[in-house]
Amino acid sequence: MAAAKIAPSMLSSDFSNLATEAQRMLDCGADWLHMDIMVLNFSSSCSHFVPNLTIGAPVIESLRKHTKAYLDCHLMVTNPLDYVEPFGKAGASGFTFHIEAARENWHELIQKIKAKGMKPGVSLKPGTPIEEVYPLVEGENHVDLVLVMTVEPGFGGQKFMPEMMDKVRKLRQKYPSLDIEVDGGLGPSTIDAAASAGANCIVAGSSVFGAPEPAQVISLMRNRVEGVKAAW
Ligand code: DX5
Ligand code: ZN
Repeated sequence: MAAAKIAPSMLSSDFSNLATEAQRMLDCGADWLHMDIMVLNFSSSCSHFVPNLTIGAPVIESLRKHTKAYLDCHLMVTNPLDYVEPFGKAGASGFTFHIEAARENWHELIQKIKAKGMKPGVSLKPGTPIEEVYPLVEGENHVDLVLVMTVEPGFGGQKFMPEMMDKVRKLRQKYPSLDIEVDGGLGPSTIDAAASAGANCIVAGSSVFGAPEPAQVISLMRNRVEGVKAAW
Protein backbone atom coordinates (compact mmCIF):
# COMPACT_ATOMS: atom_id res chain seq x y z
CA MET A 1 0.00 0.00 0.00
CA ALA A 2 1.23 3.51 -0.84
CA ALA A 3 3.16 5.05 2.08
CA ALA A 4 2.58 8.60 3.28
CA LYS A 5 5.11 11.08 1.93
CA ILE A 6 5.10 14.66 3.10
CA ALA A 7 6.75 17.08 0.70
CA PRO A 8 7.21 20.68 1.85
CA SER A 9 7.03 23.02 -1.14
CA MET A 10 10.31 24.94 -1.21
CA LEU A 11 8.50 27.74 -3.06
CA SER A 12 7.50 28.97 0.40
CA SER A 13 11.06 28.79 1.75
CA ASP A 14 13.63 31.55 2.04
CA PHE A 15 15.32 31.11 -1.35
CA SER A 16 18.39 32.98 -0.18
CA ASN A 17 19.04 30.14 2.28
CA LEU A 18 17.80 27.20 0.24
CA ALA A 19 20.21 24.54 1.53
CA THR A 20 19.56 25.49 5.17
CA GLU A 21 15.82 25.57 4.58
CA ALA A 22 15.96 22.16 2.92
CA GLN A 23 17.85 20.68 5.87
CA ARG A 24 15.44 22.32 8.31
CA MET A 25 12.51 20.59 6.59
CA LEU A 26 14.28 17.22 6.60
CA ASP A 27 15.04 17.65 10.29
CA CYS A 28 11.33 18.35 10.79
CA GLY A 29 10.47 14.98 9.25
CA ALA A 30 9.91 15.80 5.56
CA ASP A 31 10.14 12.78 3.23
CA TRP A 32 10.60 14.69 -0.01
CA LEU A 33 11.38 18.26 -1.00
CA HIS A 34 8.91 19.62 -3.57
CA MET A 35 10.55 21.92 -6.11
CA ASP A 36 8.26 24.09 -8.26
CA ILE A 37 9.73 24.84 -11.65
CA MET A 38 7.73 27.53 -13.43
CA VAL A 39 8.52 29.26 -16.64
CA LEU A 40 6.81 32.27 -18.10
CA ASN A 41 6.68 31.03 -21.63
CA PHE A 42 5.80 33.62 -24.26
CA SER A 43 5.01 31.49 -27.26
CA SER A 44 3.90 32.85 -30.62
CA SER A 45 0.37 33.12 -29.27
CA CYS A 46 1.72 35.00 -26.22
CA SER A 47 0.12 32.43 -23.95
CA HIS A 48 1.97 31.24 -20.88
CA PHE A 49 1.72 28.19 -18.72
CA VAL A 50 1.73 29.94 -15.36
CA PRO A 51 1.87 33.61 -14.38
CA ASN A 52 5.07 33.22 -12.38
CA LEU A 53 8.74 32.42 -12.78
CA THR A 54 10.73 30.39 -10.25
CA ILE A 55 13.83 28.22 -10.29
CA GLY A 56 15.59 26.11 -12.90
CA ALA A 57 18.12 23.31 -13.23
CA PRO A 58 21.12 25.35 -11.94
CA VAL A 59 19.37 25.78 -8.59
CA ILE A 60 18.58 22.06 -8.38
CA GLU A 61 22.23 21.36 -9.18
CA SER A 62 23.52 23.59 -6.42
CA LEU A 63 21.00 22.29 -3.88
CA ARG A 64 21.95 18.72 -4.79
CA LYS A 65 25.50 19.44 -3.57
CA HIS A 66 24.08 19.99 -0.09
CA THR A 67 21.53 17.21 0.23
CA LYS A 68 20.81 13.61 -0.67
CA ALA A 69 17.06 14.21 -0.26
CA TYR A 70 14.48 13.15 -2.84
CA LEU A 71 13.93 16.25 -4.97
CA ASP A 72 10.36 16.05 -6.23
CA CYS A 73 10.43 18.38 -9.23
CA HIS A 74 7.11 19.72 -10.54
CA LEU A 75 7.59 21.23 -13.97
CA MET A 76 5.02 23.84 -14.92
CA VAL A 77 6.47 24.44 -18.37
CA THR A 78 5.12 24.22 -21.90
CA ASN A 79 7.96 22.07 -23.29
CA PRO A 80 8.93 19.53 -20.62
CA LEU A 81 11.02 17.43 -23.03
CA ASP A 82 13.60 20.23 -23.19
CA TYR A 83 14.14 19.98 -19.43
CA VAL A 84 14.70 16.24 -19.05
CA GLU A 85 18.40 16.28 -19.82
CA PRO A 86 19.32 19.32 -17.69
CA PHE A 87 17.22 18.17 -14.73
CA GLY A 88 18.65 14.66 -14.92
CA LYS A 89 22.16 16.10 -14.89
CA ALA A 90 21.32 18.50 -12.09
CA GLY A 91 20.26 15.65 -9.80
CA ALA A 92 16.45 15.80 -9.80
CA SER A 93 14.86 12.65 -8.32
CA GLY A 94 11.29 12.90 -9.60
CA PHE A 95 10.30 14.66 -12.81
CA THR A 96 6.59 15.48 -12.92
CA PHE A 97 5.32 17.11 -16.10
CA HIS A 98 1.86 18.45 -16.94
CA ILE A 99 -0.36 16.46 -19.26
CA GLU A 100 -1.61 19.77 -20.74
CA ALA A 101 1.93 20.33 -22.03
CA ALA A 102 2.59 16.77 -23.21
CA ARG A 103 -0.52 15.47 -24.98
CA GLU A 104 1.48 14.73 -28.11
CA ASN A 105 4.70 13.30 -26.68
CA TRP A 106 4.09 11.81 -23.22
CA HIS A 107 5.30 8.40 -24.35
CA GLU A 108 8.71 9.68 -25.40
CA LEU A 109 8.87 11.92 -22.35
CA ILE A 110 8.33 9.05 -19.88
CA GLN A 111 11.00 6.97 -21.62
CA LYS A 112 13.55 9.79 -21.52
CA ILE A 113 12.85 10.63 -17.89
CA LYS A 114 13.48 7.01 -16.91
CA ALA A 115 16.58 6.83 -19.10
CA LYS A 116 17.99 9.78 -17.15
CA GLY A 117 17.44 7.94 -13.87
CA MET A 118 14.46 9.99 -12.65
CA LYS A 119 10.99 8.87 -11.62
CA PRO A 120 8.32 10.08 -14.04
CA GLY A 121 5.13 11.71 -12.79
CA VAL A 122 2.21 13.41 -14.50
CA SER A 123 0.22 16.35 -13.19
CA LEU A 124 -3.09 17.85 -14.20
CA LYS A 125 -4.60 21.30 -13.73
CA PRO A 126 -8.01 21.68 -12.05
CA GLY A 127 -9.81 21.97 -15.41
CA THR A 128 -8.39 18.76 -16.86
CA PRO A 129 -10.45 15.56 -16.43
CA ILE A 130 -8.77 12.72 -14.57
CA GLU A 131 -9.52 10.25 -17.38
CA GLU A 132 -6.81 11.98 -19.43
CA VAL A 133 -4.05 10.50 -17.30
CA TYR A 134 -5.28 6.88 -17.20
CA PRO A 135 -3.30 5.84 -20.29
CA LEU A 136 -0.12 7.16 -18.64
CA VAL A 137 -0.63 5.04 -15.53
CA GLU A 138 -1.31 1.86 -17.45
CA GLY A 139 0.92 -0.27 -19.63
CA GLU A 140 4.63 -0.90 -19.53
CA ASN A 141 5.82 2.64 -20.09
CA HIS A 142 4.03 4.24 -17.17
CA VAL A 143 4.43 7.06 -14.68
CA ASP A 144 5.10 6.33 -10.99
CA LEU A 145 3.04 9.21 -9.66
CA VAL A 146 -0.01 11.32 -10.49
CA LEU A 147 -0.09 14.85 -9.11
CA VAL A 148 -3.61 16.23 -8.81
CA MET A 149 -3.47 20.04 -8.60
CA THR A 150 -5.81 21.35 -5.94
CA VAL A 151 -5.26 25.00 -6.94
CA GLU A 152 -4.48 26.65 -10.29
CA PRO A 153 -0.71 26.33 -10.66
CA GLY A 154 1.27 29.51 -10.19
CA PHE A 155 1.55 30.52 -6.56
CA GLY A 156 1.67 29.20 -3.02
CA GLY A 157 -0.91 30.26 -0.46
CA GLN A 158 -4.08 29.67 -2.51
CA LYS A 159 -7.31 28.06 -1.33
CA PHE A 160 -7.69 24.28 -1.58
CA MET A 161 -10.33 23.14 -4.10
CA PRO A 162 -12.27 20.30 -2.40
CA GLU A 163 -14.04 19.41 -5.66
CA MET A 164 -10.73 17.98 -6.91
CA MET A 165 -11.13 15.11 -4.43
CA ASP A 166 -13.41 13.29 -6.89
CA LYS A 167 -10.37 12.90 -9.13
CA VAL A 168 -8.31 11.50 -6.26
CA ARG A 169 -11.08 9.06 -5.29
CA LYS A 170 -11.44 7.77 -8.85
CA LEU A 171 -7.68 7.29 -9.17
CA ARG A 172 -7.36 5.51 -5.84
CA GLN A 173 -10.21 3.15 -6.68
CA LYS A 174 -8.56 2.19 -9.94
CA TYR A 175 -4.94 2.07 -8.72
CA PRO A 176 -4.63 0.95 -5.08
CA SER A 177 -0.83 1.22 -4.86
CA LEU A 178 -0.17 4.29 -7.06
CA ASP A 179 1.56 7.34 -5.56
CA ILE A 180 -1.15 10.01 -5.69
CA GLU A 181 0.06 13.50 -4.83
CA VAL A 182 -2.00 16.59 -4.06
CA ASP A 183 -0.62 20.10 -4.31
CA GLY A 184 -2.14 23.42 -3.30
CA GLY A 185 -3.77 24.61 -0.10
CA LEU A 186 -2.90 21.50 1.93
CA GLY A 187 -2.53 21.84 5.69
CA PRO A 188 -4.14 20.72 8.95
CA SER A 189 -7.60 21.93 7.88
CA THR A 190 -7.64 20.21 4.48
CA ILE A 191 -5.54 17.08 5.03
CA ASP A 192 -8.53 14.92 6.05
CA ALA A 193 -10.38 15.57 2.80
CA ALA A 194 -7.28 14.68 0.77
CA ALA A 195 -6.24 11.67 2.84
CA SER A 196 -9.68 10.10 2.99
CA ALA A 197 -10.06 10.50 -0.79
CA GLY A 198 -6.85 8.48 -1.21
CA ALA A 199 -3.92 10.91 -1.52
CA ASN A 200 -0.66 9.63 0.01
CA CYS A 201 1.85 12.26 -1.15
CA ILE A 202 1.13 15.64 0.35
CA VAL A 203 2.74 18.85 -0.89
CA ALA A 204 2.44 21.74 1.53
CA GLY A 205 4.07 25.15 1.29
CA SER A 206 2.55 27.93 3.35
CA SER A 207 1.02 25.68 6.03
CA VAL A 208 4.43 24.16 6.83
CA PHE A 209 6.72 27.16 6.39
CA GLY A 210 4.23 29.47 8.08
CA ALA A 211 3.86 27.26 11.15
CA PRO A 212 5.73 28.03 14.38
CA GLU A 213 6.50 24.27 14.59
CA PRO A 214 6.70 22.81 11.07
CA ALA A 215 7.51 19.37 12.54
CA GLN A 216 4.07 19.24 14.16
CA VAL A 217 2.29 20.03 10.91
CA ILE A 218 4.34 17.44 9.04
CA SER A 219 3.67 14.71 11.58
CA LEU A 220 -0.03 15.58 11.82
CA MET A 221 -0.41 15.22 8.06
CA ARG A 222 1.54 11.96 7.98
CA ASN A 223 -0.60 10.52 10.80
CA ARG A 224 -3.82 11.45 9.02
CA VAL A 225 -2.74 9.71 5.82
CA GLU A 226 -1.50 6.61 7.66
CA GLY A 227 -4.66 6.58 9.77
CA VAL A 228 -7.13 6.41 6.86
CA LYS A 229 -5.31 4.41 4.23
CA ALA A 230 -6.68 1.06 5.40
CA ALA A 231 -10.11 2.34 4.32
CA TRP A 232 -9.12 3.23 0.72
C1 DX5 B 1 1.56 25.95 -6.97
C2 DX5 B 1 2.67 25.02 -6.58
C3 DX5 B 1 2.60 24.52 -5.19
C4 DX5 B 1 2.62 25.56 -4.10
C5 DX5 B 1 1.87 25.02 -2.93
O1 DX5 B 1 1.61 26.19 -8.33
O2 DX5 B 1 2.67 23.89 -7.45
O3 DX5 B 1 3.58 23.52 -4.96
O4 DX5 B 1 3.90 25.94 -3.71
O5 DX5 B 1 1.81 25.98 -1.94
P1 DX5 B 1 0.69 26.01 -0.81
O6 DX5 B 1 0.85 24.77 -0.01
O7 DX5 B 1 1.01 27.25 -0.03
O8 DX5 B 1 -0.65 26.07 -1.48
ZN1 ZN C 1 3.97 22.12 -7.03
